[in-house]
Amino acid sequence: MRYITKKASETFELGFEFGKTLEKGSVVALTGELGTGKTVFTKGIAKALGIKDYIHVNSASFVILQEYKGKIPLYHFDLYRMKKPRDVETVGCEEYFYSKGISVVEWADRAAEILPEEHIAVEFKHKGDNKREIIVNAKRKSQNAKPKRKT
Ligand SMILES: Nc1ncnc2c1ncn2[C@@H]1O[C@H](COP(=O)(O)OP(=O)(O)O)[C@@H](O)[C@H]1O
Ligand SMILES: [Mg+2]
Repeated sequence: MRYITKKASETFELGFEFGKTLEKGSVVALTGELGTGKTVFTKGIAKALGIKDYIHVNSASFVILQEYKGKIPLYHFDLYRMKKPRDVETVGCEEYFYSKGISVVEWADRAAEILPEEHIAVEFKHKGDNKREIIVNAKRKSQNAKPKRKT
């Protein structure tokens, strides 16, 4: 699914509507350059999950995981500072990805190797000034693929 938004509030609303469709255990992988709206979209998701503090969902400067309590817990990752896949593994993201909460991962390309195969990819692109292109693409487990999870 492909969307165009023309201001931040439209991206927020899109995140809100999208958030309502999420189920326990969903993993949402956000990719796109700085300032394309990943965090704005995540705020919308947080509101949909009944997180009262959704307005304070931000890209933290030092923490890479922020946890919010809602109807379903939200784990908001920002992997901007992660350089090597090894760094990501050290953080223990997988514990969260395979939990009952909802994981939303900014800069998910930096965790590509440990992302569950079944996830929803959301790609953000600048289209000039306040215009953004947002592409939502659900990736389901392919039947003959080996499970990625380590046991
Ligand atoms: N259509 C739009 N969608 C989302 N953000 C927009 C849009 N137009 C302008 N903006 C602005 O762009 C910035 C997006 O910031 P943010 O969500 O933090 O990006 P990211 O998390 O991808 O780095 C905000 O300052 C927001 O106000
Ligand atoms: Mg951000």
